[in-house]
Amino acid sequence: MNHKFLSKILVSVLLTVSFIGNAQQRTLKVDVNNEITTIQPTMYGVFFEDINFAADGGLYAEMIKNRSFEFDNPLMGWIQPNSDRHSLNKGSGIATPVKYSGSNTNHNYCRVNIKDDKGYTLINEGYRGMGIKKEAKYNLTLLASQVSGNINKIIFQFIDKDKNVLGETSVAITGNNWKEYETQLIATKTEAKAQLKVTFEGRGEINLDMISLFPQDTWKGRKRGLRKDIVQLLYDLKPGFLRFPGGCIVEGRTLAKRYQWKKTVGPVKDREILINRWNTEFNHRLTPDYFQSFGIGFFEYFQLSEDLGAEPLPILSCGMACQFNTGELVPMEDLDPYIQDALDLIEFANGSTETPWGKMRSQMGHPAPFNMKYIGVGNEQWGPEYIKRYKAFAQAIKEKYPEIIIVSGSGPFPDGDYFEYGMEELKKLNAEIIDEHYYRSPEWFRENATRYDDYDRNGPKIFAGEYAAQSVAIASPDNKNNWECALSEAAFMTGLERNAEVVHLTSYAPLLAHEEGWQWTPDLIWFNNLESYGTPNYYVQKLFSTNKGTHLITVTENGTPLTGQQNLYASAVKDIAKKEIILKLVNTSAGSQRILLDIKDNKMVKKAEIIVLKNDNLSAENSFSTPAKISPEVKKIKLKKGNTQITVEGYSLTIVKMKI
Ligand code: AHR
Repeated sequence: MNHKFLSKILVSVLLTVSFIGNAQQRTLKVDVNNEITTIQPTMYGVFFEDINFAADGGLYAEMIKNRSFEFDNPLMGWIQPNSDRHSLNKGSGIATPVKYSGSNTNHNYCRVNIKDDKGYTLINEGYRGMGIKKEAKYNLTLLASQVSGNINKIIFQFIDKDKNVLGETSVAITGNNWKEYETQLIATKTEAKAQLKVTFEGRGEINLDMISLFPQDTWKGRKRGLRKDIVQLLYDLKPGFLRFPGGCIVEGRTLAKRYQWKKTVGPVKDREILINRWNTEFNHRLTPDYFQSFGIGFFEYFQLSEDLGAEPLPILSCGMACQFNTGELVPMEDLDPYIQDALDLIEFANGSTETPWGKMRSQMGHPAPFNMKYIGVGNEQWGPEYIKRYKAFAQAIKEKYPEIIIVSGSGPFPDGDYFEYGMEELKKLNAEIIDEHYYRSPEWFRENATRYDDYDRNGPKIFAGEYAAQSVAIASPDNKNNWECALSEAAFMTGLERNAEVVHLTSYAPLLAHEEGWQWTPDLIWFNNLESYGTPNYYVQKLFSTNKGTHLITVTENGTPLTGQQNLYASAVKDIAKKEIILKLVNTSAGSQRILLDIKDNKMVKKAEIIVLKNDNLSAENSFSTPAKISPEVKKIKLKKGNTQITVEGYSLTIVKMKI
């Protein structure tokens, strides 16, 4: 008998229901018949923002950085190791950005001039390299037109840092009209830091644009689609909603640089590139190569929501640039185009194919409406100027689309003047759902499990739209996705669930981060160009979301909810369809706790499943090398009739699922 097996038996024995007397045992009463409220299907969702290379360089599987030569420096991401600019003795050739004549959303292309056959090369470095997998196929497309001379062939090769070739293909070029060419590379080796080398046969000048490379194996096999591994992690969360596209990115540092959804739909090559606001936000994490290609635009967001089975929740600019930056305001008399954007978005999502925007959705491949139910006005705005703008938006939206539920915001902090003012005003306006944000210490999360206990049950519903425990300080680059933060969030989340009458939507933030391209930490999911993994915080979210049940019931000790007394937090739901009672118990102390479950109607309980997420070390984290270090362990146990005793291990989130 091996060690692992022995310890498994031991764990089962400890968990097996018994009637052992124990002085320190605590008795929790679960009242199965006391249905407080229904749990909203939107209770646990995800918040997507293009921060940390989340879209370009991440979820959007494009591997070429600056494929259309539109970055502020049009050749950023493209290396010319032996151009005539660098060495007169090597290959003489050069790539030069050229502007299209006339107005265009795609401003530049690249002209390559090959003067001799000394081996000029153009190399794309990818987003901190390109992740390629042995034998996987990669689809390459480009636009090209011959200008002069006889460049008839372009060769594309994957190379590693030592310039070894890891896959090769070529295209024959014909004619001086812009044409799209397509070919495929097959990687001969797995490599996390590959680059794409482009060489040319012949001499003369050739124009290039939209040099694009995607893995063939994308989510749902869609051409030029999304990274499969990352979407799978999102899908596994079973999110109730998808909030997009941000975040501060909605607002922009200036109004001109705000997110405008209309510029993100239609043919991808015509979507105008914008500098990503996180490019320059933090001096300690400058990311000069961060731009928004909008390859994931509003159509793709709606499609992703549908794929995930999540309600789409778009957030729009309300005419206020980020108040942490310029705070630029659109005068009230000029607000109409912003409001029209919101109305048109509803038409894009839900309108019939006879309407202009419904037609556009249909042309993009989705004639059926997306059935959008929510819209957010502004991201993290505060003060009287926000309230004025919110009122104008709400009035216009409700007038035309009374069924759409409007999400408003209470500012960046969970307390203080901005928050108090915003909440008070929004309540007066009968706001339907108010978004609250909290990036606070792990202690704050443990101490605030009662935050919503006193919220008015008849007032606005709450969207805990952005939250994450910060191990050091808000936006500190030293923050960690450690077990203390995740466990504290779990403790707090029992409070969200216990208050499901008021709290209707919740989401951790930010969602995604590239190992090298991040600006903000902590984040729910980390990835590099080959792999991705869920943090302990991810597994907390997953356990709550996949065990959310349908109805809130009560779990109490001596008639009082468990909100951290002797480090124990609890919430309980039942799932009518699955005929289950589900308890969530969070033990924030190091020692285990013996719990006697006094379950009304417990005679019905026959078998149970216990899922434990735990670690003895509060500083422990998951990583690329140990992605599942902190991940759920499932233990099936048999129950005897009568009261049930369980052990809740130290520093654990324990889910007890009982079939009734
Ligand atoms: O999640 C990161 C940022 O935090 C969001 O963009 C913003 O809404 C908040 O301040």
